[in-house]
Amino acid sequence: MRNTSQSFATYAAATTGAPTNDSASGPTPVDSPASALPVQTAALLEQVRHQLSSGQPEWKNRTDAETHIPVERYFAPEVWQAELQALFKPLPLIAAHSSEIGLGQALAHDDFGVPLLLTRDADGVLRCFLNVCRHRGMRLLESSDCAQTRNSVVCPYHGWTYKLDGGLRHMLHADAFDACPKAQRDLMPVPCEERHGLVWVVPDPNGKLDLDAYLGGLNGELPFLAIDKLQHFRTIQTEYPANWKLIIDAFLESYHIRVLHQKTIYPFFADGVTSAQPFGQHIHSLVARRAAQDWATAPDSKMPDTVEALSQLVTTSQVIFPNTVTIFHPDYLSLISVVPTGPETLRWTHRMLIPANKTTPDWTPHWEKTFQLIEQGVFQKEDIHCAIGIQRGFKSGANAYVTAGRAEQGLTWFHDHVARATEPFLDKSNIASNPSI
Ligand code: FES
Ligand SMILES: [Fe+2]
Repeated sequence: MRNTSQSFATYAAATTGAPTNDSASGPTPVDSPASALPVQTAALLEQVRHQLSSGQPEWKNRTDAETHIPVERYFAPEVWQAELQALFKPLPLIAAHSSEIGLGQALAHDDFGVPLLLTRDADGVLRCFLNVCRHRGMRLLESSDCAQTRNSVVCPYHGWTYKLDGGLRHMLHADAFDACPKAQRDLMPVPCEERHGLVWVVPDPNGKLDLDAYLGGLNGELPFLAIDKLQHFRTIQTEYPANWKLIIDAFLESYHIRVLHQKTIYPFFADGVTSAQPFGQHIHSLVARRAAQDWATAPDSKMPDTVEALSQLVTTSQVIFPNTVTIFHPDYLSLISVVPTGPETLRWTHRMLIPANKTTPDWTPHWEKTFQLIEQGVFQKEDIHCAIGIQRGFKSGANAYVTAGRAEQGLTWFHDHVARATEPFLDKSNIASNPSI
């Protein structure tokens, strides 16, 4: 039998089985220089400190009513269709980490229901196009595990050839075609921007991308987390029989950690101590780790000034609306995206992003083991297992609503935003509203 607490030491401090000659893997002392924490993250950390030192979780001081989310929100085909129109077509979605597409590389991307082609030219400019030939519409680049290095993209049907900036470079027997505006021959661009180390796409050539407006205050918190300094290590993509929102729900509250994750990650977390703040539709939260207890009660403890130091005290997690979850483990990042493939099915994509100074081959066994523990041991066997179990009971008649208590406030915020966004696309006589709408 595997010793669970030893195995999950990689989750706690991420040094088991890892090379030991790297001082960056240890906790940063609390007497570090003045805090560079963003204002709102600092305020949330102060809330965590207060909760730990007082022994009073935040929810004990609130009296707001519990929330009820109608179960048909999780299985009705018209809700799924409304979500596709309201969320998965017009909103910026995270398509990749910047490190997944190097100079002079191209990557096919099909997660959003539209065939996309991501490219980075020799000057480092990242672009997104429809992965569709402008001649007779053939798919240009096939899917692959990683980006492909190439000077151009050649259509496999008749050989029309495109540069990585989308411009048509060559047509076989060009004089067989009429002259026409260049835009009719070049690849169709799709709104795309690289920011905070992430590739954002609006999967609609007619869409608009304004990340300043979309991310709002979250723009001020993300640079500290240094996602752009990380490197892609591994991605797993799997389909599951559950509504996509059940996955988001699982990462919006820490109430379940004590029971569901009792034998895996609970030993590293304080029970029910979380602080969270909405930034528009997005939710930024800190979940207290047990290591934060001493810090919180010491009279002279300082605020952490690096993401590594912060991550020893709390696990930072964000729901970047609508479908991405970040989880800042002590020394790596889980970047999770879910998309609905049907009313009751989802596609799960989990990327592991690791520090750039720990990408040498001697680190590979450590990261392989860590990825297996978190992906299979925690996410698949525990969180996703629950999502599938919940989905199977939705139509049983047991519950008209899912109930979220005061320790699950994130669900209220998230479902309110989903309901508001989808409302114009729904026939309200068929679908019950969230009571808070
Ligand atoms: S369809 Fe692409 S070259 Fe003909
Ligand atoms: Fe969980």
